[in-house]
Amino acid sequence: MTSTSTGQYPRTRMRRMRRDAFSRALMRESRLSADDLIMPVFVQEGVGQRCVIDTLPGVERLSIDLLLQQLDELVPLGLQAIAPFPVVGPEGKSDEAADAWAPDGLVQRTVAAVKAAHPALGVMTDVALDPYTSHGQDGLLGDDGDILNDETVEALVKQALSHAAAGADVVAPSDMMDGRVAAIRDALEAADHRNVRILSYAAKYASHFYGPFRDAVGSSANLGGSNKNTYQMDPGNSDEAMREVALDLEEGADMVMVKPGMPYLDIVRRVKERFGVPTFAYQVSGEYAMLKFAAAAGALDERAVVLEAMMGFKRAGCDAVLTYFTPSVLRWLAEERT
Ligand code: PBG
Repeated sequence: MTSTSTGQYPRTRMRRMRRDAFSRALMRESRLSADDLIMPVFVQEGVGQRCVIDTLPGVERLSIDLLLQQLDELVPLGLQAIAPFPVVGPEGKSDEAADAWAPDGLVQRTVAAVKAAHPALGVMTDVALDPYTSHGQDGLLGDDGDILNDETVEALVKQALSHAAAGADVVAPSDMMDGRVAAIRDALEAADHRNVRILSYAAKYASHFYGPFRDAVGSSANLGGSNKNTYQMDPGNSDEAMREVALDLEEGADMVMVKPGMPYLDIVRRVKERFGVPTFAYQVSGEYAMLKFAAAAGALDERAVVLEAMMGFKRAGCDAVLTYFTPSVLRWLAEERT
């Protein structure tokens, strides 16, 4: 190492810019704000109902009235959007999943109530049949045990239209059937819902990080030992995710999602670089549980690691993140401002 070498130490000292808070702030590339967050919520029937989820500490299933109370607190902190997921009892599950498009179903009533109370809050609904099927799969089951693609797409179209009719701003197909984005887009246009946006779960992997979610919505027991490997993606694949995203964009998706999040940030980066479209990631239930349980055990500082993880999503190229940490992050960001 000599002082005559060009562009190298000691002329270049990377630590100079890191020396003071002001120069660290000036060169910081990624930032996190309330605008980057989407809050998933679990809704259940009833009034005044609140139910803890053992594998998802800090997240509760709420009846609509209590959800509205929570939103009254979080909207002033800058909450931009929620994604409701229904907890459906055995009476609402069937082989045909017909309750998925009931005009007065739980999700449809949730959307209407939330939009009435908070018209400017974005509401994005999950389009998939798993809360409503007796077998817990996202699609309809054929006699041979296969998930029927085209029949499922017809059902998803009915479900998406019922969400749009209830006032959903965004419908988010999370089922991974082929051709569903085009079918939903055409149906929305035909029904005069031309401003309803589609957030496609374009690259959704067959992941074991969904475990606590399935406990939360009560679909793990229905699913039994089955898996979703014939429609969700193989965790080993990345090029296939590019094809999925390209197809969903051609079919009329406005935004695309990568799911899960933290173990798949390489996919986020490729999608953002290749397509330059609104790109979201879902920090799923198992990722939340990992951080939450590690913090509860005293192994990690929850606030510090959660904010660092959020920064990771932003740095990878996410425009927004669906995360169960949304209420905490909104509160921490508000504290930083005061
Ligand atoms: C199913 C659906 C799943 C999640 C959201 N929608 C799970 C699955 O595919 O079984 C998982 C979300 C999470 O783990 O937080 N349509």
